[in-house]
Amino acid sequence: MKATTKYTFALACCAAAFSLTACAGDKQAASKPAPAQQAVAPTNYVSGDGVLLAYFSRRGENHTDQGIQVLEVGNTERVALKISEKLNQPAYRIQTVKPYTDNFKEMIEVAKKEQAENARPELQGPLPDMKPVKTMVLGYPIWHGTMPMAVFSFLEKVGCDNITIIPFNTHGSSGVARSVDDIRKVCPKAVVMDGTPIKGTLAATADKEAGEIAKKARP
Ligand SMILES: Cc1cc2nc3c(=O)[nH]c(=O)nc-3n(C[C@H](O)[C@H](O)[C@H](O)COP(=O)(O)O)c2cc1C
Repeated sequence: MKATTKYTFALACCAAAFSLTACAGDKQAASKPAPAQQAVAPTNYVSGDGVLLAYFSRRGENHTDQGIQVLEVGNTERVALKISEKLNQPAYRIQTVKPYTDNFKEMIEVAKKEQAENARPELQGPLPDMKPVKTMVLGYPIWHGTMPMAVFSFLEKVGCDNITIIPFNTHGSSGVARSVDDIRKVCPKAVVMDGTPIKGTLAATADKEAGEIAKKARP
């Protein structure tokens, strides 16, 4: 596929993801966005000025203002799609080879075990090409006080030397918790900015925060 064709395809995917998000309105349970990385070549996630937007998010049961509900778009994903729109580039979704359970209670235990074992869950490819990356906007939920182990896998696998990382996260009540300190440990040669925590239940209305995060990436 020619580069221009790929780029047009990437934009089409983006547009599809945006329109689906827009259709969702403010409801947390919404239609599924296009699984972006299956359609976009890895290098096309990085803009001409070296910005990569990457996020991890889990769809399925989660706490909402209406109790436990099935979220078809995860909270972090919702914010990532808003940032993607502001930056006018697609968002790379970090995904594990072994999918996580939709069941909230089970997920709590699975994540606890992974953290206790300092696991590095295997990731789906293709991973983004980091060579042209100068700035990475990185989104994730807080799981048991830090980012999910899959995000550790991602940073270690793609590498993060000599780049600037702009973290953002969604959470139940913990704020950034240990996550930014942990990113600094995994990426000692990166400039890691302070994180932006967003309460998961407010993800659907986090347009101002998304704008501020996008501005950090492209002032
Ligand atoms: C396994 C698991 C562990 C969690 N641990 C925390 C936590 O330690 N602190 C917190 O504030 N929220 C915690 N939460 C809540 C999530 O951070 C929050 O719901 C987040 O918005 C989920 O984002 P996602 O939909 O993008 O996956 C946890 C959720 C799960 C599923």
